[in-house]
Amino acid sequence: MSSLSSKNSFSTYDIINTVAVITIDNPPVNAVSPGVPGALIANLKRAFKDDGVVAIVLRGANNTFIAGADIAKIGQPWPKDEPTFTDLCDCLDSSTKPVIAALSGFALGGGSEIALSCNYRVAVVGTRLGQPEVNLGFPPGAGATQRLPRLLGLEHALDIIVSGRHVKAEEALSIGYIDHLFNSSDTVLDDAVQFAIEKASAGKPHPRCRDYPAPAPSQELFAAARAEAEKKYRGRTSPVACVKCIELSASLPFDQGLVAEREIFEAERQSLESRALRHVFLSEREVSKVPGIAKGTPTRPVTHCVVIGGGLMGTGIAMCFADHGMAVTVIEVLPEAVDQANQRIAKRYSSDVAKNRLSDAQAAEAISRIVCTTDRSALVEADLVVEAIFEDLALKQELFSKLAMECRDDAILASNTSYLDIEALAASSGRPASFVGMHFFSPAHATKLLEVVRTSSVDDNVLATALGLAKKLRKVPVVSGVCEGFIANRMFSKYTNAAISALAHGATPTQIDTALKSFGFPMGPLEVLDMAGLEIGWARRKSQPGGTKAVSEASIADRLCELSRFGQKTNRGFYIYEPGSRVPVPDEDVLRVAKDVAHELHIEQRPFTDERKLAEWCVKALADEGHELLKDDIAIRESDIDVVWVNGFGFPRHKGGPMFWSAQASS
Ligand code: 3HC
Repeated sequence: MSSLSSKNSFSTYDIINTVAVITIDNPPVNAVSPGVPGALIANLKRAFKDDGVVAIVLRGANNTFIAGADIAKIGQPWPKDEPTFTDLCDCLDSSTKPVIAALSGFALGGGSEIALSCNYRVAVVGTRLGQPEVNLGFPPGAGATQRLPRLLGLEHALDIIVSGRHVKAEEALSIGYIDHLFNSSDTVLDDAVQFAIEKASAGKPHPRCRDYPAPAPSQELFAAARAEAEKKYRGRTSPVACVKCIELSASLPFDQGLVAEREIFEAERQSLESRALRHVFLSEREVSKVPGIAKGTPTRPVTHCVVIGGGLMGTGIAMCFADHGMAVTVIEVLPEAVDQANQRIAKRYSSDVAKNRLSDAQAAEAISRIVCTTDRSALVEADLVVEAIFEDLALKQELFSKLAMECRDDAILASNTSYLDIEALAASSGRPASFVGMHFFSPAHATKLLEVVRTSSVDDNVLATALGLAKKLRKVPVVSGVCEGFIANRMFSKYTNAAISALAHGATPTQIDTALKSFGFPMGPLEVLDMAGLEIGWARRKSQPGGTKAVSEASIADRLCELSRFGQKTNRGFYIYEPGSRVPVPDEDVLRVAKDVAHELHIEQRPFTDERKLAEWCVKALADEGHELLKDDIAIRESDIDVVWVNGFGFPRHKGGPMFWSAQASS
């Protein structure tokens, strides 16, 4: 860069040839917090005044442009004396010299809006643009709903803003979101400066989104967009608010549109939906900060994984690794089991292809990374071995003592157990420092949650490796201490117990499941139990001291099992299923069983009419158990528990998780 270089709090100012290069620098992602607009405005004004400057390039440090407004600060009032986003966009709009946004990494939310306030946008391959504000529960608040429709037309604007999706630079170029695409990040600055000089010397008036004609209103398009937003985002308001703002771009002059957008943004920003979504966003980033595990803790390299067990879980775990470029060997005992594992994997990949989640080529590439075999020789190569066999303590202990002899000393041994005594498993491996719990959730290749179980003797670098690996697998890891069921399943049984308790008190299975689905869960708790199989809980209850002899509300589930009603697999559980169908049909017999148990427990059954109360009944049970987990030091923080439920059990993200929701409900 030239000798004329200087820095204020959040940006640097350089001159390259005759171009002022203003670089926003607010690590890690140049989020726009208070102070940033002021710093940029100061440098823009300097460039406006400098007669030697013919054009301005605005770019980001830290290998990215700007990932948007600072989400941690969005709930707080903007300091009165600090210039705002709007002031910055107005300042960009006022430039008589061409301003070029040079994009790399992410240009999201307010970052995209700043770029849209520049005259031109250039990007390097790999850049992602977009307006993901809807994922935080509000529409864009710095002009995107007015500028994008003018620049791209209504259909693209609706698509980008209401979906909140990331737009790859290639697509952005094809629809006119950016003006030019550069291939190399090494030369992007020089390329952007060259582009700026060309635009300055062309001398034409430089385009501004605000000057483009407003799009022609289309009532049909808006009605369809509203209907789709209501259907897709049931129970939420911000997607429809996005449509409303875009609609205004077609009926109001630009400046009035900006004011209207800001008002709608402000109202939505304060909604419970937005507070919940921001809470989940920040909580998902907080989970990797684990007390005692310092940032930069060394990790062990993991490139080759072995999964022991080719059942539903084992193959799902293998697919996770393969999907993210890792070589996996799945070890089974019998050749028939190897065949079944191969078939399972092939079936799931073809279903992913059929659902357009993967291309044929991507599926073929992933499959080529997985070897299913009875041959255990791959264990010598393994950096990580994940056990995913039947939930039987003695069987697993035997396996781990054998694995310790077959694997390299530095290999990490992990168990996918969901509730067994993991300290006992670690001890059986003879190398507890290298042993960690990695609890995946079915379907393992698709569910975001990974529970990482921290035993008393695990090495920090093993735990750090598991957390890093989860990120590589694009999963959200939550660290749990040791107890039966860990965080997730210990809470899940309280949740389903609450549902069964509601049944004992007179609610019907359909009422209970409908209430939880209206709350926002994709399935009701009794439907989930029928899908997973009632015999699992039955076996656990039988194995506990006293077994299932004493009558309790859970006896309803036990008695269904005694009638061989194990759920979908036997076409009978809390519901009846036609053979081959997963549609639950209510069954009077279940109500009779519930009535008998209620009678024995002296519970007076009563009709339930309030769906909301039924949902609260179950969610409150979750939060109560969450508090117990915190007291027992099993969960690190309340927000981790919310992350578990949002990412592992379909708790509605816009309600923030059981802890957040219960705190709001009781305040
Ligand atoms: N504000 C504050 N911090 C942010 C942030 C933001 N907008 N975006 C990312 N970060 C932080 C994360 O908290 C994390 O911090 P940490 O290292 O201390 O945990 C760090 O940046 C890296 O983020 P990720 O771990 O998420 O990294 P990834 O590479 O997986 O993802 C990303 C990067 C795609 C940019 C992702 O972080 C993301 O989606 N960010 C949010 C983008 C967004 O929603 N922007 C809109 C904000 S609202 C807005 O702009 C309003 C406007 O219209 C006025």
